Amino acid sequence: MKVTVIGGGNVGATCAYILSEKNICQEVVLLDIVEGIPQGKALDMREATPVSGVSTAVVGTNNYGDTANSDIIVMTAGKPRTPGMSRDDLLAANIEIMRSAIGEAAKASPNAIVIIVSNPLDAMCYTALRLTGFPHTRVFGMAGILDTARYRTFISMELGVSVKDIAAAVLGGHGDTMVPLPRLTTVGGVPLTELVSKERVEAIVQRTRDGGAEIVKYLKTGSAYYAPAAAAAEMVEAIINDQKRVLPCAAWLTGEYGCKDIYMGVPVVVGRKGVERILEIKLNEEERKMFDHSADAVRSVITATKL
Ligand code: LAC
Repeated sequence: MKVTVIGGGNVGATCAYILSEKNICQEVVLLDIVEGIPQGKALDMREATPVSGVSTAVVGTNNYGDTANSDIIVMTAGKPRTPGMSRDDLLAANIEIMRSAIGEAAKASPNAIVIIVSNPLDAMCYTALRLTGFPHTRVFGMAGILDTARYRTFISMELGVSVKDIAAAVLGGHGDTMVPLPRLTTVGGVPLTELVSKERVEAIVQRTRDGGAEIVKYLKTGSAYYAPAAAAAEMVEAIINDQKRVLPCAAWLTGEYGCKDIYMGVPVVVGRKGVERILEIKLNEEERKMFDHSADAVRSVITATKL
């Protein structure tokens, strides 16, 4: 198995490193347009492999030829947010980066599964779908795992329990309108709503929605990367090992959840074929309203791509 990570910045390099340490693929290629950065970071990662006892070959390059015949492409290239910016403010800059990168990557690896991480996530997924011409089951996005991981972290902090036992899914777009579902959140099988007051649940939901901005505010010069990289690596692992994991991902909807021709965060069965199935949850009226509101927000950014 060969995985290419496009973008040698914080998210891309961290993702390549996590993948290397997971020891789940023979080769990880880290590609960036800046000369020396991917080569240096990849060599450093490779020099960590004897210490970790893993046998992943990590390669850094500026050349798409070296990415040929990848099984999976993780697209992380793009500008990150700085304080005060919304993810949507990145559209103009990142669509150009996507344009120059994804077509070439797809040409070199026509059978690859593409995982998009660049923001604004849902619109970047759409851009990649159009520019690669790949079937939609092979182009999907990382957002829900990250948003859900943040949500689970905050619940674990609230209750003083292990994150491992918190099962949840945050749906919708990867933006201020994302849709956490407290009704379906459980802590070791116990409904969250029985353990935490309505007010506290609302505060946790809001902190989840603002989770990306909270990190940007601390870092000032960029956005989160450890959790986003770990989330993307989890998707890669689910594909490589054909795990049939149920993971919230940005998937192309063809009528599911009453939506068509739009990327939205929904529970996806992830396996060797990419998006193998979308699980539909019956939403209640309030959840439905939030989901539709989120779909409207995503649709307007997708329209702005003019593709
Ligand atoms: C975040 C950005 C990366 O949520 O979208 O941190």
